Amino acid sequence: MRIIQISDTHLSAGKPHFVRNWAPLRDWVAGQRPDLVIHTGDMTVNGADQEDDLSFCAARCAEIGPRVLVAPGNHDVGQPGSHQPIVAERLQRWQQHFGPDHWLHDIPGWRLLGLNAMLFASGHPAEAEQDAWLVHAMQTAGQRRIAWFMHLPLFLEHPDEPDTGYWTVKPEPRRRLLDLVRRHEVALVGAGHLHKAHDLVMDGTRYVWCPAGSFVVGPGMQEEMPGEKFLGAVSLELAPDRLDVSLVHLSQLAVLWIDDVVHEVYPKPASQAQRPPN
Ligand SMILES: [Fe+2]
Ligand SMILES: [Fe+2]
Repeated sequence: MRIIQISDTHLSAGKPHFVRNWAPLRDWVAGQRPDLVIHTGDMTVNGADQEDDLSFCAARCAEIGPRVLVAPGNHDVGQPGSHQPIVAERLQRWQQHFGPDHWLHDIPGWRLLGLNAMLFASGHPAEAEQDAWLVHAMQTAGQRRIAWFMHLPLFLEHPDEPDTGYWTVKPEPRRRLLDLVRRHEVALVGAGHLHKAHDLVMDGTRYVWCPAGSFVVGPGMQEEMPGEKFLGAVSLELAPDRLDVSLVHLSQLAVLWIDDVVHEVYPKPASQAQRPPN
């Protein structure tokens, strides 16, 4: 089965700074004739607060053709500890436009699980519900191999690294999730958020960062972080006995830098210092 993973499109009708990259990304995806498309979040510029962004992006997803499964990002549903905390209203708004924020999709030989990474360390009741659902989904996978898709990577360089702040899942939920990864021999964890491309195998699990379809981030915000800085997608071939991963650099996307427009797209909240916009 051919799957294309895309991520971090940051689309909005009201803030159309990155919309020019949508048509070439969509057309490339369609040309690959995938069986399934998975979007790992930050689909919107600000779906967390602007419902128009969610409806605009739902319409863009419908243009792709094959089924699109989406795992939400921080700009879609909010983020714990930010000026857009996880609250029921944001989660419900997402679900109205995109369906469940976590999902299970079985294909021959594989169980694909989409997670709402923004719930981790949120303390919202939906976090415990998703945790229980995930354990059950893992326990009932049978002989299928397992792949996870979620917005945040579990870690940057090593599972035991300290809190990375904005960039990854927090250490406490990370520990619980990595216990599941090891116990059930998860084959693939596909993430987004970093706007960088990376492919790492550790203890038999393949950790892949999907490049963004919108913009890259200047060195001032991402010094000494692994991965390659380009725009593109990930091509996956999954069969019962096979996992092929290709990071795809799409030169037809314009190399846009968030640094040039961050004051317009993500103006600093009155209550906070400027933070990275990924
Ligand atoms: Fe993000
Ligand atoms: Fe992003």
